[in-house]
Amino acid sequence: MSTISKSISPQLHHLITKMPKAELHIHIEGSLEPELIFELAQRNQIKLPFDSVASLRDAYAFKDLQSFLDIYYAGASVLLHEQDFYDMTYAYLQKAAADGVVYAEIFFDPQTHTERGVSMQTVIQGLVRACQEAADKLGIESKLIMCFLRHLSQESAMQTLQAAEPFLEHLIGVGLDSSELGHPPEKFVEVFKAARALGLKAVAHAGEEGPPAYIWSALDQLNVLRIDHGVQSIHDEDLIARLAKERIALTVCPLSNLKLCVYDDLAQHPIKRLLDMGVCVTINSDDPAYFGGYINANFLHTFAALDLDAKDAIAFAKCSFEASFMSDLQKKAWCAKLEDFAHALGV
Ligand code: ADE
Ligand code: ZN
Repeated sequence: MSTISKSISPQLHHLITKMPKAELHIHIEGSLEPELIFELAQRNQIKLPFDSVASLRDAYAFKDLQSFLDIYYAGASVLLHEQDFYDMTYAYLQKAAADGVVYAEIFFDPQTHTERGVSMQTVIQGLVRACQEAADKLGIESKLIMCFLRHLSQESAMQTLQAAEPFLEHLIGVGLDSSELGHPPEKFVEVFKAARALGLKAVAHAGEEGPPAYIWSALDQLNVLRIDHGVQSIHDEDLIARLAKERIALTVCPLSNLKLCVYDDLAQHPIKRLLDMGVCVTINSDDPAYFGGYINANFLHTFAALDLDAKDAIAFAKCSFEASFMSDLQKKAWCAKLEDFAHALGV
């Protein structure tokens, strides 16, 4: 995955890798690299069902979302203490900053941890400390989005929301992730209503493997402001028209779609068609430790496969700021910096 078969000009490579950008779709547990999984397993005396980093990596051959999630939850089982959550998050923020990410909205899955007896406080404190330190030392800003696991019940999601109430100041929003098929957004209407009443913004995974109907119900029943993935919208013209008209962004993750066999080849990916139809689409890494690369790798592979150009790169980066939950003033400032950066390169 690390080699790019088609060529990208040095100028486009420089623009993509160095331009300021926001990342809006990253599961922090999906940034746990195999080396760190083994280090934490040893530190916490947890026995893993793999005997080496190489054998764990060998298991990263997924056929669909569920086959990935089974391994992803096993990997997350090494996280026990606040320091573990800190180490994982700081490692991601270092990589993101090196990729030109100036702002990240980070998903986390508390139920994966609270179900194993880890407290909400342990999880959130570890994440927050890493975000604060990365802001100070690396100059990257980040916010947290707490996701509900859709394969669990709405009651469990409601308990999770209640457990997070003492930490509301650290959360920008709520999301919905995990096994999509068979768990439509409407299963979570009440908990999303409660979260919005607490002032949290709402996003949801929809249309990753699931049908366009799941995107409609995420919009109409959960009142989400963005759709995570949303690539199946390509099969529904009316939905595309609505996304474009209302500027409802899709946080797209091309290497994830490739690794989870949504597409056999990135050349089939609809991201450019969606952009050209007026949809605000962004490029993100989803679970970079599992899918072969962080945000710049996602850009580079996509640009090579679809033969995209500098104008597309700037459009995706602009969408990333527009679709973020930063203030309007900050959005304007980052878009202006992006334009200055592009002009300085003669783009
Ligand atoms: N959790 C982590 N990665 C995910 C994905 N790609 N889809 C749904 N849930 C997830
Ligand atoms: Zn995701």
